[in-house]
Amino acid sequence: MEAASSSPTQCRYSYEVYKETADWLLAHTEQRPKVAVICGSGLGGLADMLSDKICVPYKDIPHFPVSTVMGHAGQLVFGKLQGRECVCMQGRFHFYEGYNIHTVTYPVRVFFLLGVDTLIVTNAAGGLNDSYNVGDIMLIKDHINMPGFAGQNPLCGHNDERFGVRFPCMSDAYERALRDLAKQTAKEQGCDSFLQEGVYCMLAGPTFETIAECRVLQTLGADAVGMSTVPEVVVARHSGMRVLGLSLITNKVVTDYESNDKANHEEVLKTTQRRTHDLQRLVSNLIIKI
Ligand SMILES: *[C@@H]1O[C@H](CO)[C@@H](O)[C@H](O)[C@H]1NC(C)=O
Repeated sequence: MEAASSSPTQCRYSYEVYKETADWLLAHTEQRPKVAVICGSGLGGLADMLSDKICVPYKDIPHFPVSTVMGHAGQLVFGKLQGRECVCMQGRFHFYEGYNIHTVTYPVRVFFLLGVDTLIVTNAAGGLNDSYNVGDIMLIKDHINMPGFAGQNPLCGHNDERFGVRFPCMSDAYERALRDLAKQTAKEQGCDSFLQEGVYCMLAGPTFETIAECRVLQTLGADAVGMSTVPEVVVARHSGMRVLGLSLITNKVVTDYESNDKANHEEVLKTTQRRTHDLQRLVSNLIIKI
């Protein structure tokens, strides 16, 4: 038993631990959100749009991990968007920070136990598709779970049926009806000219991709690449939550050995700032319609 619990693929949290976190949160807010939003790098401003806000720093929440990356605030924000209750994660947990894959996805199971049925995930991603421009917003149609290929799937280990089935389906991970709603909303607010729909590939990071790696990912049919989102989506789908994913294309990956361009985190944050308003409006207008 001891060997199993120290294995990196064995989930280190029991149902009761998630439950303790959820019950603590339920006792600290009267709000009962049905929608949760995970805010990616530089996209935490979404939470500022909420009214009747209750901010809960991660460090105050029992069993909750703490975020370290630049540009992440590290708190849960409960609040309302035109009367619709939702909860935002301002700052997510990345595998590259050294967290166990079960820690990365810890908040999603807590959301499930809070009664959340729809998860909206946002991230900053590199554009692999030649037709994408910096500043485009990509609706995630599907994903490639590269860490999963390497044995890092958050559902590895004992399966607790109270969360979901042993072998969950992933072919319908990003619900079509939600994507259609997002397209319609984008059109209404005049940002359909830079809305894309494509496949997101997750790599563990923290290194950006080499030129050869980018070429491999293009060959595999990926349109954007990043270092997050997929584990959270896998856990959300396991528990039957509806999922919508949005990637902000913050840079175009380098696929040419003659190029002098270099991927860097500052460029990612700069583009994010430029488009953050459009993306936040899209998400908030969408939440009202869900
Ligand atoms: C790039 O995106 C466009 C527009 O969504 C799509 O039609 C095309 O198939 C994509 N290209 C590749 C190589 O996947």
